[in-house]
Amino acid sequence: MSLFKDMLKSGESLFRDTLFLSYDFQPKILFARENEQQRFAVAIKPLLQSLPGRNLFISGPPGIGKTTACKHVLRELEETTQDVTPLYINCWKENTSFKIYSKLCDDLGFKFLQNKRTTELLDLIKTKLNKTSVVFIFDEVDKLEETDFLYALLEDIYRKSIFLITNYRDSYSELDERIRSRLSPEFLIFRPYNESEIASILKQRRDYAFVQDCWDNDAFKEIVERCTELKDVRIGLYLMREAGSLAEDQSSRKITLQHVAGAMKKVDEFHINPTETLDDDLKNILDLIREKSGQKIGELYTHYLEQGNLLSYKSFQRRILKLTEAKFINTEKTTGKEGNSTIVTYNSNKKLTEY
Ligand SMILES: Nc1ncnc2c1ncn2[C@@H]1O[C@H](COP(=O)(O)OP(=O)(O)O)[C@@H](O)[C@H]1O
Ligand SMILES: [Mg+2]
Repeated sequence: MSLFKDMLKSGESLFRDTLFLSYDFQPKILFARENEQQRFAVAIKPLLQSLPGRNLFISGPPGIGKTTACKHVLRELEETTQDVTPLYINCWKENTSFKIYSKLCDDLGFKFLQNKRTTELLDLIKTKLNKTSVVFIFDEVDKLEETDFLYALLEDIYRKSIFLITNYRDSYSELDERIRSRLSPEFLIFRPYNESEIASILKQRRDYAFVQDCWDNDAFKEIVERCTELKDVRIGLYLMREAGSLAEDQSSRKITLQHVAGAMKKVDEFHINPTETLDDDLKNILDLIREKSGQKIGELYTHYLEQGNLLSYKSFQRRILKLTEAKFINTEKTTGKEGNSTIVTYNSNKKLTEY
């Protein structure tokens, strides 16, 4: 019965544990970020001698290990010393000063915070943290609604390093001048991985997540190639999970090129058809660009205001950047008589996997 020898029996699975394919999973081994880790260490080192640390502004496109590398450093720090308190905040979840202080207090072990006001929370934080040294990591700072807390921490906490992480290099210039001058950070730009780095990263996850030898070499190689082209590790993780599920649906013991092709189709849908997942605001702007494709960003902004929308030019530019990164639109810088400008065009049929 060789016909059935490659079929999964009921109750069998190709997956050991899908948890290892989740984007938030913290791998033990961090590949190819030695230089970046070194920069973190140099910034933090003075704190180990009870001196003020340095601040870093970390940027780079999504899915290339910024969060993971920072968390890795915090973990190592925790394992090495008790003299420096590591604190990590995701500003997408905690986007106001009040929420950030509440989370910090929570992480510092304070209880019964329900009725405390913003200033009271800050006082608790100051009292506790000024007895020690501290590394603050604020991730996704472009999602912040308020930044007063940064000013307060810069002023009132004595021995600290503050790391700000963002996908958008521009978010630095959007910070308040008072904050920028006190922060005076060093800039650290993460570069995308090359193919062999992506291969190492995905291999580690594959070996955790799947049973041994279920991947065809060609199929895995295809995923590495696509992931390298798209420059986002998360796409590789997504493709591995989808291809694995497709193979399992067909009771196949092997994950083949055909399953990978099926998974890639899903990525297309996921990225091409995601207008449902765009918030209304971005959708409006995308509609406008579709209608007026090829115009300059300033002209588009004027139309946008004429439609009765209220948004600063800076915020408009940021939304354009988001749409560009999600590959809904293309932007091209031009230099003309009237100075520099950016032409914005609608991306009608380019699919993510064609890059
Ligand atoms: N150098 C690396 N070694 C191991 N895994 C990595 C590495 N870089 C990224 N990853 C994995 O890729 C995914 C995306 O990384 P993440 O840190 O969330 O990216 P970013 O913060 O830049 O958007 C995560 O699941 C992470 O574990
Ligand atoms: Mg991140």
